[in-house]
Amino acid sequence: MGNGFERLAILMCPPDYFGIEYEINPWMSRSRQSDHDEAVRQWQALREVFDRLGVDIREMEPKPGLPDLVFTANAGLIHRQTVYLSRFRHAARQGETPLNKEWFESAGFEPIELPEGFDFEGAGDALFCGETLFAGYIFRSHANAMQWVGDQIGCRVIPLQLVDERYYHLDTCFCPLDAETAIYHPAAFDDYGRSALEAAVPKLIAVDPVEAQRFCCNAVVIGRHVVLNTGCPLLEQSLHDIGFDTTATPLDEFLKAGGSAKCLTLRLDGEEAAVWSG
Ligand code: ARG
Repeated sequence: MGNGFERLAILMCPPDYFGIEYEINPWMSRSRQSDHDEAVRQWQALREVFDRLGVDIREMEPKPGLPDLVFTANAGLIHRQTVYLSRFRHAARQGETPLNKEWFESAGFEPIELPEGFDFEGAGDALFCGETLFAGYIFRSHANAMQWVGDQIGCRVIPLQLVDERYYHLDTCFCPLDAETAIYHPAAFDDYGRSALEAAVPKLIAVDPVEAQRFCCNAVVIGRHVVLNTGCPLLEQSLHDIGFDTTATPLDEFLKAGGSAKCLTLRLDGEEAAVWSG
């Protein structure tokens, strides 16, 4: 593996203190609480899927008062031994950063903080496909922050403005499968973004709009295996047609917070679809 991990490694954080304590995206409503026991069961089942696929799962400790710490995709963007730490837009999540920093240091990563004013929500908004960094911006991350990270890494950045508040992070509407293939929800992008995606990704698969609402794009790619929420049969079929296996596991409790499989994970050894050059 690229950066010292012997096998495919993922960071997760148990949902001990997960809940809907504030509303920072249209999916969250304090009047629609998550069921704690069910959330724990769903999270465990997801973890077991990764176990069966041979993933090296690292856990970080949950903390009371930080219900969204479960969404480790937002801890930062990993590039080799470096992690670009998130600078959360909303105060409610800013307390996560020091804990993330501590965890990354203890795991041997070099944490980099972005300049002040550069909102950046890590692997929620910044996704490698091949050597290119696809960068969602407007709701949570600044386009300038993305460019700054791209300059540090020395890679091409394709900024994609997100236009639908329900798809506020890039990983809710776009998912690279390998260096040439990705799935996306076209309505989450403007015309410029759609053409930029079409020009940059040779095999781009549009998902069904109803399945997009099941967060089908928020999938985890483990080699030729895709792990995703239940209720996305059309996408599963399209993936089978191009030679991927799929496992669907229920994640409805996390949908109430605006997250699904991918948000609950952070690839530590390098994203599947990334070809890190240089
Ligand atoms: N409630 C969280 C938030 O709004 C959900 C984060 C989902 N993470 C993701 N990578 N899309 O910030």
